[in-house]
This record gives sequence, C-alpha cells and structure tokens, in this order.
Amino acid sequence: MSLPPGFLEELRTRLQVSDVVGKRVPLQRSTKGEFKACCPFHKEKTPSFTVNDQKGFFYCFGCGATGDVISFVMQHDRLSFMEAIEMLASQAGLEVPKAEPEDRARFERQKTLYDVVESACAFFEADLRGPGGRAARDYLKGRGLDGDTISRFRLGFAPTDGGKLIKHLRGQGFQDAMIEEVGLARRPDDGRDLYSFFRNRVIFPVADRRGRTVAFGGRIMEGDGPKYINSPDNPLFHKGNLLYGMSRARQAASQGQTVIVAEGYMDVIALVRAGFEAAVAPLGTALTEEQIVELWKMAPVPVLCFDGDEAGRRAAWRAMDRIVPQLKPDHSARIAFLPQGEDPDSLIRGSGGGAAMQAVLESALPLVRVLFDRQTTMHRLDTPEGRAGLRAGVEAQARRIADPAVQGQYLAELRARFEEAYPWRPKRQEWRPGGKPPAPAGPKPSPIRDELDDRLAVCILLLILTEHPGLIEEVGENFARLEINDLALDSLRRKLLMRLGDSHLGDSDGVDSGSTRSYLIVPEADGLPPALVNRIRRKWPFTLPQASLEQARAGWDVVMGHIELRALERELVEARRLLAGDGTTEAHQRWRVMWSEVERRQASLDRVQNGR
Ligand code: UTP
Ligand code: MN
Repeated sequence: MSLPPGFLEELRTRLQVSDVVGKRVPLQRSTKGEFKACCPFHKEKTPSFTVNDQKGFFYCFGCGATGDVISFVMQHDRLSFMEAIEMLASQAGLEVPKAEPEDRARFERQKTLYDVVESACAFFEADLRGPGGRAARDYLKGRGLDGDTISRFRLGFAPTDGGKLIKHLRGQGFQDAMIEEVGLARRPDDGRDLYSFFRNRVIFPVADRRGRTVAFGGRIMEGDGPKYINSPDNPLFHKGNLLYGMSRARQAASQGQTVIVAEGYMDVIALVRAGFEAAVAPLGTALTEEQIVELWKMAPVPVLCFDGDEAGRRAAWRAMDRIVPQLKPDHSARIAFLPQGEDPDSLIRGSGGGAAMQAVLESALPLVRVLFDRQTTMHRLDTPEGRAGLRAGVEAQARRIADPAVQGQYLAELRARFEEAYPWRPKRQEWRPGGKPPAPAGPKPSPIRDELDDRLAVCILLLILTEHPGLIEEVGENFARLEINDLALDSLRRKLLMRLGDSHLGDSDGVDSGSTRSYLIVPEADGLPPALVNRIRRKWPFTLPQASLEQARAGWDVVMGHIELRALERELVEARRLLAGDGTTEAHQRWRVMWSEVERRQASLDRVQNGR
C-alpha cells in the first residue's frame, strides 16, 4: 500500500522526535538543544543515546542505532512500517489517507500550495525593491529597518494594483483555485476578475515551524482601514497553531535563549535585531492552547510581554486563563509588563535600547504572582467579607489547574501569599520604653523581620551609634530624618544626636563610647532599660561594644533597611485600600509599584541578613 506524497513529511512535521521517544524512554534535556537517554537498543549505564528535534532524528553513539520518528517506533515497538504510521498518525491527530486518487491529489495540491505562497512571497519582496515600492521602503526606513533586516525577515510590498500578483502567479502556472485557496486572492461577486487580498500594504511573511512561508500579514502605511490584515486560515495555515517567528525561535531556544512572546510583528523584528532571537508573537489573537503547547516545546518557561496599561493587563489575564489549566510540572510562564505606552519595538528603539528590554524581562513576574494580583483587584480588601472572597477566588483559580501536583503547589503558595501579603492580623504586643519588655523570644532562629518592630529597631540604632559614635558622619542625617512616633525614643535620639553633633563640631576629642553609653543606657524612665539592652546585644551581636566598625555599619544598614521596608509596607496597605475603594488603573498601578518595591527591598534585606 502506498501513501500519498507529502503525508510522511506532514507526519514528521507534526511530531517531535523527543515527544515520541520521550513517551517510551526517560529523556534528559542536554545542553545543545538535544536530549539524551540510556539507549533502548543496547544495554548501557551512561547515556549515549541522543535525540535532536531540529534535525528530526535519534542517534546512539554506543550502538549506532539511528533514524527518524517512524523508524524509532518500528524498532522500539517492533511494528511494521504501516503499523508505525497508523500509530504515529493517531498521535499526531492525522488520519492515514487511503491512497485513493482524490487523496493523492489533495496531498499533491498541498505541496503546490506551499509553492504558491512561496512564489507570492518572492513577488512581494521584489516589489518592495522595485520602483513601486519606494513609499514602503521609506516607511520601513522610518521605522528603523535597514536592508539587511528587510531581507532577513523577507519583508515585502503588495502593490496597489490588485491584478499584478494574480498575473504573476498565473504566469508561474498556478491555478486560480489554488491562489484563492491560500487566501491570496478574492473573486468579486459580480464576476469580475480575481484581485489580490493584500493591496498597498507592507508585507510580513509568516512561516511555519519549519520555516516554510504559509501566510502573510499586511500593514497599512497610511489612510483608513484596519492597521493589519492577515491571510485567512487555509490548508497550510491555522493562525491559532502558529506563532510569528517560531522557526527561528525554536533554534534560538535550543541554544538557550529565553523564549519571549510579544504582541506584534514589529516587536518580534525589533527583539530579534536586539539579540533576543527566540522572540515570537501570536497573529493578532490572544494566545491559544495550541500556541502554549508550541511554546512549551521550545522552552519550559517562556516570558510573555504585555503593555503596561489596562489593556495589557487584561491581555495578560486572558493569556493566564488559557495557561493555568494546562500547567504541568516544570512548565510555566513569566509575565513581563512594559512601561506604560511602550511595546518592545518602541522600547528597544528608544534611548534604553536592548538593555531596557532586558530589564523588563528580568522583572518578569511568576505566573502565581500575577494570578494572585489579579484576584486582589476583584475583591474589596478592607472588609473581612472581601478578604474571604479574595481567598476563595485565589483558590478557585488554583483548582482550575488539571495537574494535581501543580495544583497542590499553587494552593499552598497562594495561601501563603495571602497570609503574608495582608498583615491585618492582630498586632503583636509591642514593647514601650518605660514599660515592661516582652518575655524573651526563646531560641527560635527567626529572621530579624519577624522580631523587630519599629521601636525595637530604633533602640538598636541608638545602641549602635552609642558604641560607634564615629558612624554619625555617615548616618547622622538619615537618622535625624527618620520618623519616630514614640515620644520617648524620639527625645532619646535628639539627645544622642545633639551630644554627638556638638562634640563633632566643637570638641576635637570627640566622644568616647563609654560616656555616651552611661548617658544613654540608664535604668531610669527615659533611658534604654539595661535588660532590653542586654537582650538586644545577645540577639544582635553587631550592637556589642566589641563589634567592629564594619559589623556595626552592616548591622545599621540591615536595621535601617528594615524600618524603611516597614514604612513601605504601610504605604502598601494604604495603596491597597485605595485599590479596594475605587479599583482604578492608577490605584492598581500604584499598588503594583509599591509591592514590587517592597519585594525588592525584602529580597535585598534577606541577602544582607544571610551574609549576602
Ligand atoms: P498592535 O496594534 O499592537 O501593533 O498589534 P504593533 O505590532 O505595535 O504594530 P505597529 O508597531 O503599529 O506596526 C499587534 C499585532 O496584532 C495584530 C498584528 O499581528 C499586530 O502585529 N493586529 C493588529 C491585527 O492583526 N490587526 C490589526 O488591525 C491590528
Ligand atoms: Mn508597535
């Protein structure tokens, strides 16, 4: 039995070798876009069996076994050729065609459909270079594209005369039906001749996974009409399965480049030119399930970029809605928001260049975080009912994840985020100078953060300055400006600063820590109680008299950082309250900025505390 021509090629295109092999042999990703495993065809302990999706074959350095998906299944599952084809076809969602004449014709025609599109692509390219392409050339130049880029992306121009392309394709021997079938031409109802679908537009050819041109996008340069039009779906092109730039991106990703999903053609081009070669974009629609599967074939955690505005936020949510149910172990996405009013193209072409883009990518948020943030915009956060709604909403989102292991992790993390992000739990009892210090915290090795309220933090700062009066030069100004709500501590600070400042200005001997100490640490109502001082010294050794200046300085930074962090957190609560109140974009924006800042500071504080 013979298969129609083109069928095997289609089958190989649809199936990645690693998918097929990976279902039978545990594969490890190796560095150069290859997978390795212990060879299923001979006994071995260290893997010498490799699979390369780019090249579409497997090879064993040990026993020399080699072949493509089909021969793998034949050898591994001990199937005949036709059995292997049947099996693989069902995995690929293809029907094995009966080699009847009309099917044969279908595949033959499909092969030539590629040729029609390719021929049109070359026509558009030539037209851009010709006399009629001047305005389009100027347009592209105005958008910063040089000749190399135009050739690399095979950009073209569709002339205003709608008959020109048709004439050209007919001249090449293509049937009208084929030209229509790939969406390159329309036939008017009134019986007039075919005319080109793309007219007076800059052309962006769209290639499939293997780099074959299968469709076009056309951008208007000026005047009325939709900004972009795209080839309609056709036998070669289903826009929901393809991503612009995917064949290049596959290769770049296999060399370790970050897979980036932008929104438009121009963005992909700008990204690639700036060195982000694994950039792709959907074709004017929200990301589809199929596109997510394609992305995950390239890399486990692609970065999705969205505008920093309301529309971008909504687009991010839409994408997230598609991704969440499909999450599986080790596969996710990160979400990057561009500065307001920018897309990757404008950002890269602006003064920040590729570095600005890199910064955006580095600030990409984990999916779980965006999921949480989104829920916070949907519930009132200033009432118990609202917060209960938030918690329920967050859990409902997590329950949409089909994979039980990932779902479990999401539930756990989202609950933890909920507890952490909303410090409306009853206040811990806090110590007041002059009052009774709380019972010692016991030996639990908790980070400073949990232990340190603002008053205690100020006490520590006072103590550090007492032991190292020399620090006043570096920190005095900041310390003087610090907002201290506790009156007693505020007056202690003022006294200390005055004393150190006086000596600093006048008395050339300076102050020795001993006398300052005796001055500050007094068992009376307005000094630091010795019991507290001892407790602080036990707990934070950089406050000890014998601590070095470096230790003291490092300690100062940590504690100061902590105080600033708490102030920020209070602002965050306020921002959140605003958000719950009116939920405007600005409120959300402010809240997001605040939260990023708090997280950033918290992370750097953690680094300092853990010895960098
Ligand atoms: P944008 O409107 O964000 O355009 O559309 P862009 O990519 O920044 O385009 P330039 O910079 O103005 O040239 C993003 C993508 O959405 C699709 C296109 O694929 C476009 O690249 N789109 C947009 C359409 O399909 N039709 C449209 O009318 C507009
Ligand atoms: Mn743009």
